[in-house]
Amino acid sequence: MSIRLNRRQFTLGCGATVTVAGLWNRTRLWAAIPESPIKPRRIIIDTDPGVDDAFALMLALGSPELKVEAITAVAGNVPLELTLPNALRLREICGRNDVPVAGGAASPLLRKLVTASYAHGENGLGGVEFPAPVTKPVEEKAADLIVRLVRQHPGEITLVPIGPLTNIALALRAAPELAEMVPQIVLMGGSLSGGNETPSAEFNFYVDPEAAAMVFDSGIPIMMVGLDVTEKVVLTEERLRRLEANTKRVSRAAARIARSLVETYRKKGHGEWPVLHDPLAVSALLDPAILTFEDYHVEIETAGTFTAGESVGFKPGYRRLSACIQNAGPEPPVEEFRPNCKVAKAVDAPRFFDLLISRLEYGV
Ligand code: BDR
Ligand code: CA
Repeated sequence: MSIRLNRRQFTLGCGATVTVAGLWNRTRLWAAIPESPIKPRRIIIDTDPGVDDAFALMLALGSPELKVEAITAVAGNVPLELTLPNALRLREICGRNDVPVAGGAASPLLRKLVTASYAHGENGLGGVEFPAPVTKPVEEKAADLIVRLVRQHPGEITLVPIGPLTNIALALRAAPELAEMVPQIVLMGGSLSGGNETPSAEFNFYVDPEAAAMVFDSGIPIMMVGLDVTEKVVLTEERLRRLEANTKRVSRAAARIARSLVETYRKKGHGEWPVLHDPLAVSALLDPAILTFEDYHVEIETAGTFTAGESVGFKPGYRRLSACIQNAGPEPPVEEFRPNCKVAKAVDAPRFFDLLISRLEYGV
């Protein structure tokens, strides 16, 4: 099932208010996450939780193939005052207080912040009121933490941004040598088939096009998991019921967030189902059979009045630049094809949901 939703069709109110006080007995034991037979891959997740960000964090924190070195919060779906505590809440729900959480940029590099609370609820978690976090973020700012960790483990840390790319751009600006030290960026963002925030731009790139352009210009190999595939991973009633049939804490929290969001959509009369953009990007690190990628040279539009944040994917033989105005310069050449990005073009949605729903079953 594939749906193409205009963000405005998602306009939401606050959603249901439910508390989980009483579930927070921190002395209880967590069901063990099995150990990976191979050395786990080090990652940093940069995120703006966000309903689908919550699913992505839960998936990554419960996957033995990944060693989450840090979670860095950025403004996006909701302001930083909410994304940062949401990131703390989520690591607590996952029983992973060993993973440092840092606060990052409260606004894009140049532009005024545009949020998506109409799609994620005013609190970013579908209106489910989890208790205030009991843990604190580290003092270091997100960009500084990214720089320090990457320098500490050169060539080893994959960055996994699933929100606007502001923190990643700030890290690259502070330490340009990072471009040589990060082996890969696996991100949720962009689209080669139209946007969801404007007809051209996907939300994460729309919010901070200049940051996205810096990241795509950095030379770091990128895997782009964009709307071309993410809009095909829709949490249907049948899939949500499978999640609700699980019994562990993380599954229960995920199901409550999703059910609350579905109810809010229903009350608003949209009849739509949540799309799990962000965990699909994480799944690319777990099971290579879920997504199929093609090489592109991707450029991010920053100048367009109507197209800022658009990701334009070039294949061999295309011109990159527009023609000059009258005689202001030479004819733009057809440049040599230099791919900077693998773009996800096809997805095995049932395989993704099998992985996601089984992996979320941890905690007490
Ligand atoms: C992206 O925008 C956000 O609303 C989601 O969390 C996802 O990262 C999808 O366009
Ligand atoms: Ca996100």
